[in-house]
Amino acid sequence: MGRVLTLDDVRLDGRTVLVRVDINSPLDPVTNVFLDDTRIRRILPTLNRLSKSKVVLLVHQSRPGKKDFTSTLGHSRELGRLLGRNVRWIEDIHGEVALKAIETMEDGDIIMLDNVRMDEQEVSVKGDFDALSETTLVQNLAGVADAFVNDAFACAHRSSASIVGFTHLLPCIAGDLMGHELAKLREALENPVRPAIAVLGGIKVDDSVIVADNMLRKGICDHVWVTGGVANLFLELAGIELGSINHEFLKNELGDSWDDTVMMATRLLADFPECILMPSDVAANVEGNRVDLSLSQLPIEAPIFDLGITSIRALSKAIKTAGTIILNGPAGVFELPDFALGTVEMLNACAETDGYAVIGGGHTATLVSQRGLMDRMGHVSTGGGACLELLAGRVLPGVDSLEKSAAQFEMSIQNPLEHQ
Ligand code: 3PG
Repeated sequence: MGRVLTLDDVRLDGRTVLVRVDINSPLDPVTNVFLDDTRIRRILPTLNRLSKSKVVLLVHQSRPGKKDFTSTLGHSRELGRLLGRNVRWIEDIHGEVALKAIETMEDGDIIMLDNVRMDEQEVSVKGDFDALSETTLVQNLAGVADAFVNDAFACAHRSSASIVGFTHLLPCIAGDLMGHELAKLREALENPVRPAIAVLGGIKVDDSVIVADNMLRKGICDHVWVTGGVANLFLELAGIELGSINHEFLKNELGDSWDDTVMMATRLLADFPECILMPSDVAANVEGNRVDLSLSQLPIEAPIFDLGITSIRALSKAIKTAGTIILNGPAGVFELPDFALGTVEMLNACAETDGYAVIGGGHTATLVSQRGLMDRMGHVSTGGGACLELLAGRVLPGVDSLEKSAAQFEMSIQNPLEHQ
């Protein structure tokens, strides 16, 4: 990994600092009330360290076209409440109103701009760092700021203007959350305590197969336990007929990536037959009721919604005796109480194990928070897709940008920011 600048390397007191955070959060569909404020809480350390700067927050919520694609007014209020400081919300992103508000800020002020994804270029312009630096958002905001802090690990896998566009224009610095996420995830990937296991579930089956491939081929994990939709794919490849309903669901979820995913998973199974551990029983949703079935009782024309009891016990035991556990994605449809057992039990085991448990973000992290288990885990990532990409061994553009900026900043004779 290349070096990135951190808040320890630069003095930002009195400076105008753009801070990209990811506080994209689950909202109540009717009231827009926050259902989980974890991501907001996790950026507080960075904001506290910037208490003598002029902080301009760049934020997104959801994506255009989605129901929870809202303005960030509620986010500014929630942040102000948790931070115990005034967060001024600006109904603009980089137009005259925003620029004027930034130019009249005083040290210690915090401004939150509106949802950056309301900016057409933020959503549509793709390309390298140079192309993204040409966007109006980046050009306008870079003109009124001294530095860019990226504390948005959860969207570091997105190559968009507000994340990587400032690379060559401003010193780009990793915020505390970004630094913490990278350190914890890399620790698990680079120095896993043995035995190390990955527990991969959820419906992002294609991504999970790539993660499994990376974990086993690089020897990061000794075993990969598959749950959720990922388990269904491997069971099918091992010759178990699940029932047409389950097969069709899998095919629909995988869509265009079906062929590639099946090919990769087949090879993995051939190369590591002892290392991929599949459920020995499942729970199907038969007209609203949980029905546990052994593999010999399959196929079934009802959707498989959870691991079966025997598999849940085996997985819990494996988690409790592992040195490192890398877990991503739920084991079943945990939103329905009858089918939450597998997911809840594997999270309980992660809380109880003496091993180091790293929990990939998204829905699983929300559940950890709701069940009050946050402090009992080794590390709970705020990233869903970003965490998966990192576990899959891919370069995250947001991190790449920080590394490039650090290299450039260190070589520059006229450092715009004084080193500490
Ligand atoms: C997330 O919730 O995973 C991040 O905010 C990224 O969101 P996106 O998948 O809409 O880019």
